[in-house]
Amino acid sequence: MAMTRAELDRDALVAWLSEDDPARLATLWEQAEAVRQAHVGPSIRRRGLIEIGNVCERACLYCGLRASRAGVRRYRMTADEILEAAHASAALGYDTAVLQSGEDPAFDLDAMCGIVARIKAETPLAVTLSLGERSEGELTLLREAGADRYLLKLEASNPALFARIHPPAPGRAPTTRVPILHTLRRLGYMVGSGGMVGIPGQTWGDLADDLLAFAELGLDMVGIGPFIPHPETPLGRHAERLMAPMGEQVPASVDVAQRAVALTRLLLPAAHLPATTAIETLGGADARARGLARGANVVMHNMTPWAYRADYDIYPNPARLAAPGPSPAQSSARGASGPPESPSPGA
Ligand code: 5AD
Repeated sequence: MAMTRAELDRDALVAWLSEDDPARLATLWEQAEAVRQAHVGPSIRRRGLIEIGNVCERACLYCGLRASRAGVRRYRMTADEILEAAHASAALGYDTAVLQSGEDPAFDLDAMCGIVARIKAETPLAVTLSLGERSEGELTLLREAGADRYLLKLEASNPALFARIHPPAPGRAPTTRVPILHTLRRLGYMVGSGGMVGIPGQTWGDLADDLLAFAELGLDMVGIGPFIPHPETPLGRHAERLMAPMGEQVPASVDVAQRAVALTRLLLPAAHLPATTAIETLGGADARARGLARGANVVMHNMTPWAYRADYDIYPNPARLAAPGPSPAQSSARGASGPPESPSPGA
């Protein structure tokens, strides 16, 4: 019998997250796999991920797209480019287009509603949006335009840790994400969240609390990946200085991230849990495959045009730049502004 939510209290979660014994972990993987089979079935859900723009006004300490970072070539895909990537996703048999971007200060609500409506009219895809912290008015109109789901990661449920890594937008008050997740639910979205494992300063108790917060929110989707230091960010440069005391700091490892995914499966049996790109980036394709046998049931395939892919540089990411996709020859469309697939710094 699989462990239940009642049995998985904070102490139990801390113990499992930090468990190293392969024999005991084998029972966790078995339980996660059994619960996944019973509640979401054997099939893998395939989503097409379209990174529609990398312009962002936030200054998150972990993210390579933070506003102040110079040297990122900023882009916004056109409506036609997004539609083309959505059609390509449908042609490959994916069931969902995930449209993701930074928090673009020039966010064009009308244009985005039009894009969502066109994808819904022209393809059988579900539409998931991941556009950061948008207002209730914006989220209402996007939902009315046909958006089915929304992803907004807690990243860290500990308010002090979140505030430290996620400063407010210029001239605005600090924000928290739980109220937005409640708004999304009220508006009829399927709601996704998630977080990073091993953020400098994150303790085992913090990570256990993240999983309990996901369960409490009753999320439909949860994406969990290891923190990957980006050398062009404060958290990448000063990780050591920010670490929690020895023994309390969660390591940013594939192993711990996979334990967190498996435990999330037990806490939220019917949720959709991706084997995330961050896991694949650190652990390779094997790690992604292992994740799918340990509770995860979703794969996000990168459908961003090659011309833009290297510019969506949230973290140094060999997996996404090496992923099979449209012929690299297509990227020559980007023109003379530089090598289109120049590797991200530190990649
Ligand atoms: N390491 C790992 N994941 C990151 N993300 C952003 N920056 C990093 C990083 N340095 C993740 C966040 C975000 C998603 C798009 O990518 O979880 O929500």
